[in-house]
Amino acid sequence: MSQSTSLVTGNSGLHVAIIMDGNGRWAAARGRPRATGHAAGVTALRRAAEAAPTHGISTLTVYAFSADNWSRPRTEVAALLTLLRRSLAIEVDRCVTNDVRLSIVGRRDRLPDPLVRAIESAELATASGRRLWLRVAVDYSARDSMIRAAALMTHMPAPTREDFAMLLATVDNTPPAPDVDLMIRTGGEQRLSDFLLWESAYAELYFTPRMWPDFDAADLGRAVTEYRRRDRRFGGLSQAAAG
Ligand code: IPE
Ligand code: IPE
Ligand code: MG
Repeated sequence: MSQSTSLVTGNSGLHVAIIMDGNGRWAAARGRPRATGHAAGVTALRRAAEAAPTHGISTLTVYAFSADNWSRPRTEVAALLTLLRRSLAIEVDRCVTNDVRLSIVGRRDRLPDPLVRAIESAELATASGRRLWLRVAVDYSARDSMIRAAALMTHMPAPTREDFAMLLATVDNTPPAPDVDLMIRTGGEQRLSDFLLWESAYAELYFTPRMWPDFDAADLGRAVTEYRRRDRRFGGLSQAAAG
């Protein structure tokens, strides 16, 4: 039986997280500006979201902009935030049609007002989506979220994992999500870069050299197939050994 500490969300499929890395290198390899890679990355995300339910994924959390990405050149940060705002506005109708609920995960106080308004209206418009819960992490840092959640916990007498997960959701401006089952990183690096550190305590990790703009439905299928071959023991014994 799963030892997951996740909170019940009413959907029972997989929670897959993706670190969508490699946009800049994808563009550089084609002699194009990095922003072209980010734009191609939006298309790849649309593809992944459309394929996700067919692979048994009910929650998909993707890393779009980390708190540490503020340290990139101003022009790239501005291009990314503008792309996010425009993509939200464009994709919201598609999400409604495809029964997708959209949530943005992370702090909002450092985002430009027009982006915050686009986030709020996209979340409102898609709130009843049931086929897929698409969570997009923006200005997100797992460690910062944990510090802020811990600060809210100081007056709790005996906090549980569930209490902490609830506080994390509060500081990340999202309803509580289940634990991550499968964490995918594209672009060849094998690290977590401060993404969902608490939620991924028992996640299966999957790294692929494929650059994010090239990642397609077949790649997602391969990752899920590999996940289903893994033996998740949660500290216990496998079914065969426990026999
Ligand atoms: C991931 O692609 C997208 C963001 C971090 C916003 P990168 O921009 O990190 O692309 P690479 O890793 O430089 O190729
Ligand atoms: C992680 O990628 C963040 C996103 C994909 C949004 P980075 O490219 O920022 O991570 P590092 O710098 O390689 O660790
Ligand atoms: Mg990168």
